[in-house]
Amino acid sequence: MRFWRWRDGGAFGCEDAALVIGSRWKGRNVGAFGDLTTFSFHPNKNITSIEGGALVVNDAAEAKRVESLRFHGITYLSDRTRDVAFPGGKFNMPDVNARIGYSQLERLPEFLARRRALVDRYFARLATDPPCVLPPRPDADADGASSWNMFCVLLPLDRLTISRKAFRDALEARGIGTGMSYEALHVCTLGRRHGGREGQFPNAERIARETVALPLHAGMSEADVDRVCATVAEVLAAARK
Ligand SMILES: Cc1ncc(COP(=O)(O)O)c(C=O)c1O
Repeated sequence: MRFWRWRDGGAFGCEDAALVIGSRWKGRNVGAFGDLTTFSFHPNKNITSIEGGALVVNDAAEAKRVESLRFHGITYLSDRTRDVAFPGGKFNMPDVNARIGYSQLERLPEFLARRRALVDRYFARLATDPPCVLPPRPDADADGASSWNMFCVLLPLDRLTISRKAFRDALEARGIGTGMSYEALHVCTLGRRHGGREGQFPNAERIARETVALPLHAGMSEADVDRVCATVAEVLAAARK
């Protein structure tokens, strides 16, 4: 959560929910609480408008302010003329992207259900003798639900004879693409420039070192997940110290 200030001085929090459209926390949808919430519709998100996203606001007045900020600082007057109140940006979504986004939005429940079914399959296949550390599952009793934009595992690198790169290469050689989000920002070039150093946030560093995102997409089948799990188990078994 980042805090910002409107031009008239009022402060507001901006919640980055880029990956989590459809997630729930304590029984409420993400976006239904907090001040402003942003969702991303980049192609690797749960729904897409190719590029762009959505900003959830609280009322019509906020929507009007954001509309001006989005488009040159323009406000529309009652006599159908326009005023420019401040230097705004040019962040409007093209109509073609919006049309794609609307039809994707209608399919969100279907995509979420599919992702949740695939994740259930991942847990069913990997949980009995986990070859890697599995992600935590939201506590259904606390009425939480994940939108499962990614399924990330941690590799037990200290017990393996291969590096993460070698693991990913082995999967890729068998036709299985993986990801590695995210870096530990404090030890990236930018973070170091601002005083970040190794050892400062050991958990973030370990997670950045060990994370592998396994394939997850609403277009996948249970058989795809089975193949991924069998390959992960096989590669890790061969690399055990
Ligand atoms: C946490 C988080 N915030 C923001 C973004 C950026 O979203 P966009 O590409 O729509 O600007 C991403 C993209 O993956 C993200 O993961």
